[in-house]
Amino acid sequence: MSPTEAKDQIQALTAELRQHTYNYYVLAMPTISDYEFDQKLEQLSKLEKQFPEFADPESPTQVVGGDITKEFVTVKHRWPMLSLGNTYNEQELIDFDQRIRKAIGDNFEYVCELKFDGLSMSLTYVDGKLSRAVTRGDGTQGDEVTTNVRTIHTIPKKLNTGNYPDMFEIRGEVFMHLKAFERLNKERVDNGEVPYANPRNFASGTMKLQDSAEVARRPLDCFLYGLYTEKTLFKTHWESLEAVKSWGFHVDNHSRLVSDINGVLEFISHWDTERHNLSYDIDGIVIKINNYSQQQELGFTAKSPRWAISYKFKAERVETELLAVTYQVGRTGAVTPVANLKPVLLAGTTVKRATLHNADEITERLKLHEHDTVYVEKGGEIIPKIISVNLDKRKPGAKAIEYITHCPACGTLLLRTEGEAAWYCPNDEGCPPQIVGKMQHYIGRKAMNIDGLGDETIETLYRHNFIKHISDIYILHERADELKQLGRFGEKSINNMLDGIERSKQQPFEKVLFGLGIRYVGETVAKKLVAHFKTIDNLMAATAEELTAAEEIGGRIAESITEYFADESHRAEIEKLRERGLQFIAEEKEVTLASEKLSGQSFIISGVFEKYSRDELKDLIEQNGGKILSSISAKLNFLVAGDNMGPAKLEKANKLNIPIISDDELMTMIG
Ligand code: IVH
Repeated sequence: MSPTEAKDQIQALTAELRQHTYNYYVLAMPTISDYEFDQKLEQLSKLEKQFPEFADPESPTQVVGGDITKEFVTVKHRWPMLSLGNTYNEQELIDFDQRIRKAIGDNFEYVCELKFDGLSMSLTYVDGKLSRAVTRGDGTQGDEVTTNVRTIHTIPKKLNTGNYPDMFEIRGEVFMHLKAFERLNKERVDNGEVPYANPRNFASGTMKLQDSAEVARRPLDCFLYGLYTEKTLFKTHWESLEAVKSWGFHVDNHSRLVSDINGVLEFISHWDTERHNLSYDIDGIVIKINNYSQQQELGFTAKSPRWAISYKFKAERVETELLAVTYQVGRTGAVTPVANLKPVLLAGTTVKRATLHNADEITERLKLHEHDTVYVEKGGEIIPKIISVNLDKRKPGAKAIEYITHCPACGTLLLRTEGEAAWYCPNDEGCPPQIVGKMQHYIGRKAMNIDGLGDETIETLYRHNFIKHISDIYILHERADELKQLGRFGEKSINNMLDGIERSKQQPFEKVLFGLGIRYVGETVAKKLVAHFKTIDNLMAATAEELTAAEEIGGRIAESITEYFADESHRAEIEKLRERGLQFIAEEKEVTLASEKLSGQSFIISGVFEKYSRDELKDLIEQNGGKILSSISAKLNFLVAGDNMGPAKLEKANKLNIPIISDDELMTMIG
């Protein structure tokens, strides 16, 4: 290779790797696998060694990827947060073992740990209390995310008694369990939001939220794996893990102490298959020298310790043919491209389809052509993904696949909101899959759960012009004879359906509200809105500020709600539903008074609390005779404030001289 070629290639690889680092850490949306990333990094590293004159001192081979975002305070790490060298096969591990033996002799032990696939976090404890949580960032400095981390139940806010130092740092991995990931991702799809590709992205996307109430809704967990203290307290890593466990930290109990590389290889081969039975994702194994003085002797390179290494499991990958790209239109109008593949066996299941995410994936990243041969991988992702194209097998003259410009269902020109990746069909009143999808959502199990009416029936009724809006469902009984004549349904099933529809009028307001399908108003949000506003009229009249005063309602949800109710056709539809007997008022819960200690006093609860949820505090106030108000006004007696309360609210309360109290002070008032 000529020096000019080398220079160009180094520059191109550097730029490409920087982009991937940004996609991974900042956007939490990687577009290539870890394996491919490491291969490119390796290629760059080789070129830099051959042509050191072109190596950039800030090259991705020299710096740890960054996840610093603008909205958080940046904090410098007391001890740099390094990454680990990666290995992918047995030989590389044997080489690592030999390097160690050469440096420190044969008398040492390894600790084998699972490599949790999440985001690393540094926690500082002062006098046994969690004082600060910081992300890895670029390894030197990271984002201060303490308020968000406080919502993680398995991270102790206060330690058990123990002989821990006054100040120490402990590091670990924040992650999301697979069950929670699947549940919350489904909720996102139901709410018309883009789902996350895997639990790691969900966890890191969650940590970057500014709204801690939303963070608290998403259950995260954290395993701790590294203690950092000014003075060395323990002789070995294993001892320190045992100690931090006794102080109250969540330490994974699958770690093993082994005496040599054979023990390491056994541990790896066990987890290569057993990892599929864990309740969380791991992407490899971490191998560490147990003894701290031996760790010190081995030291560090610029990026990683010499006393530890990771072994990464390979994602299973197969080659198959792309048959066609098809497009689905969801109930919110979002268009999702899907790759239809020649069926192929991958990680135990037959794969026929793969996600293509968005237009850029097809035309920019993969540059897909008709009948391309593609590599499909199932890594951390639940849904298989096309990794790349085998260009050697591209058919001569194959045409590039172009993204559609018009809705495949109704022909309307597609639009894209600035900054968003997805194209959508704006014809929400006339596009069949959107109309049908909205009604199917309404009758669904989690919404109105209408017996005798399923997705297929909705489609048939729509096709035969019986229903176009949700409210039409409630006048179907007037057309019972026509339904019979249709010849599609027997008398019994028509009666069942009409009975089910009639019964659904008893469904509580929160189900109706969720059924309307307002963007971002999922089941939980609907419940919170009903608990706070009580009636549809209050909700429709609420300003964005009043909406965000309700528990767990952030700015994005508030904006979506006000936009929805600003639309005259939506208001008209609600009026029809009201006339037809649907519930738009919260069911009154019987409150049994525990005392009258707060009678005549009004409260607003704002922020996040360590010991109670806001609902618990509300119930306590009401049970003791107090009243909850929905917005700050001169009538308010107390503002109960937790962490992360909005500055606007604080300012307003101060202006009106309203006493601001803590949850503890409230408890004292109740006694
Ligand atoms: S020890 C000096 N142990 O992997 C680095 N890291 O590629 C010390 N990780 O940044 C890290 N599980 O986010 C360590 N059991 C484990 C781990 C682990 C996951 C992550 C961590 C680290 C990255 C390095």
